[in-house]
Amino acid sequence: MTARRKSSNYQASMPFAREPFKTIYVVQRLVTTILMVPIWALYYSVMPRRFRPRPSWSLKQIIAVNFMRRIYKVAELAGVTWSTRDPEASCDNKTLKETRFEWVDPLPEDLRTGIVVDSQVPFKRVGTFVWPKQKPPEIPDTAPSGDPDASDVVLVDQADIEANASREPIIGIFLHGGGYCHMSAHEQCGPSRIPRRLMQHKAFTEIHAVEYRLLQHAPFPAAVQDAAAVYAHIVRRHQRKPPASTKSPKSASSQTSDDTDNTKEIDDNQHFLSIDYDASATKNRKEVNEIRVRVNHAARFKGCKIFLIGDSAGGNLVLALSRWIRDEGILPPPDGLLLLSPSCDPAHAFPESPSSYVPRPHASTDYLVDTPEPRALLQRTFLGHNPLETMHSPYVSPASMRVLRAFYGDAFAASVEDLTIERLDTAEIERLRTMASAPATPVAEHPPELGAPLERSPTSLARPIIASPRGMSLFTDFPRTCIVLGDAERLEREVMKLVGAMERDGVEVRTVWVEDGVHDVLQMAWWDERVRDRVCASIEEWLRDVCES
Ligand SMILES: *[C@@H]1O[C@H](CO)[C@@H](O)[C@H](O)[C@H]1NC(C)=O
Ligand SMILES: *[C@@H]1O[C@H](CO)[C@@H](O)[C@H](O)[C@H]1NC(C)=O
Repeated sequence: MTARRKSSNYQASMPFAREPFKTIYVVQRLVTTILMVPIWALYYSVMPRRFRPRPSWSLKQIIAVNFMRRIYKVAELAGVTWSTRDPEASCDNKTLKETRFEWVDPLPEDLRTGIVVDSQVPFKRVGTFVWPKQKPPEIPDTAPSGDPDASDVVLVDQADIEANASREPIIGIFLHGGGYCHMSAHEQCGPSRIPRRLMQHKAFTEIHAVEYRLLQHAPFPAAVQDAAAVYAHIVRRHQRKPPASTKSPKSASSQTSDDTDNTKEIDDNQHFLSIDYDASATKNRKEVNEIRVRVNHAARFKGCKIFLIGDSAGGNLVLALSRWIRDEGILPPPDGLLLLSPSCDPAHAFPESPSSYVPRPHASTDYLVDTPEPRALLQRTFLGHNPLETMHSPYVSPASMRVLRAFYGDAFAASVEDLTIERLDTAEIERLRTMASAPATPVAEHPPELGAPLERSPTSLARPIIASPRGMSLFTDFPRTCIVLGDAERLEREVMKLVGAMERDGVEVRTVWVEDGVHDVLQMAWWDERVRDRVCASIEEWLRDVCES
């Protein structure tokens, strides 16, 4: 209920959000937009190509972009949300053609640590639309009864696991875009074009599209909670039963005492990923090393490959989920991140001073609109009861200038400030790579950890919550990442900052540049299919590389 009240609050403060203005505005806008279509078609077919927003664009592409831009403006100014679903509603399998609907339990209690914990945001069960519709046959438990006399049990086991790795299911977790206020995970909703396409060539065994809570339903960290619940569910469902041989004292004695403890937990099986581990109480005492050992151990028994996939705001959520997995150090890390035009600087709507506001680039070639006030209102609703400076948390705006400066200093921040694909020559790319190998500068002022509940005291923007636990850099230990980005899209600059920062922290990033591409081309209804096929081929090539290494 409170969420509803809040949502009507943010809508009430938007220019055309009150009736009757809303209906008049929306209808007027729709009608004129439809009337514009033949005019655009005529204009651009008589004018030479160089008058097009991008000469390579077809008429269909121009019309799609212009049309969407006008419709998006309606959404921003009138507070209209579309294609959303109630996240608490079930979905009848009979109504679904390509997916099955499955509930996932709320995040298990033993995993409720770090930023997902918030007394005002309850943990909930999460709906998922799972591709394909037919459940694949149960994954056999990989528990060879193991020869207890084998002299090198651990090695044999390891080799076995590696030999089997190619047969491991490849699971995608898809977090849809829509600015945290539009769209849903339903198979008929626009962003589902992405999992549909990725399933076409059988690159994935399954893709779980997550019906996470949008800002109308609950504020941050609700969406992260929901994504985390699905991640934990998949890890545990595919978790390998440890081979009986691990119990042998020989293998146990050959390991560190910490690992012996883990071995004991493995005997109990089900929940060895977390048993006996009270993160909040022991985190400060735990050495980085012990966390590594635990995570590596969990990773060895992860019976599948997991890729986190997100477009636009979904990409933002993928980055937040990966950060939580890394910061807490309980669950094994995902194998890769696939970010499609990720939104990584929502703090952009909150300039340090009004005069320092720099509009996002490519206003004339993209359909995303960027009107600061409605954006800021949406972001405030997204934060809900959280202090405003949560906006500058790496969990929310990992590529904001403030975060980049705090982690890497002014020089680096300046070097990526105006990085764009167009300006990037080979030397520049070389420079980015060199920076990637340079040791990360320690964080200037880091409170010891972000794992602890966020500080709730009323603070000013002068003390943003910018830190990583255990002295890690912004993207230390992040998995391999593939980023798809158009050079005609409004998020170009912030995504390039993200690429620069990730590479600097040693993350292997593959950037797929879509020439003359707008925001999130894979989910657009009308875009050049050949371009999309090429993008998908690049993604699948990256997937193969990651799975084979
Ligand atoms: C839909 O089908 C799957 C199995 O294919 C099942 O696990 C799930 O519970 C079903 N969902 C509903 C809402 O009945
Ligand atoms: C490897 O795969 C085979 C056949 O699927 C299975 O019997 C065996 O237990 C697996 N071994 C490991 C260690 O996963």
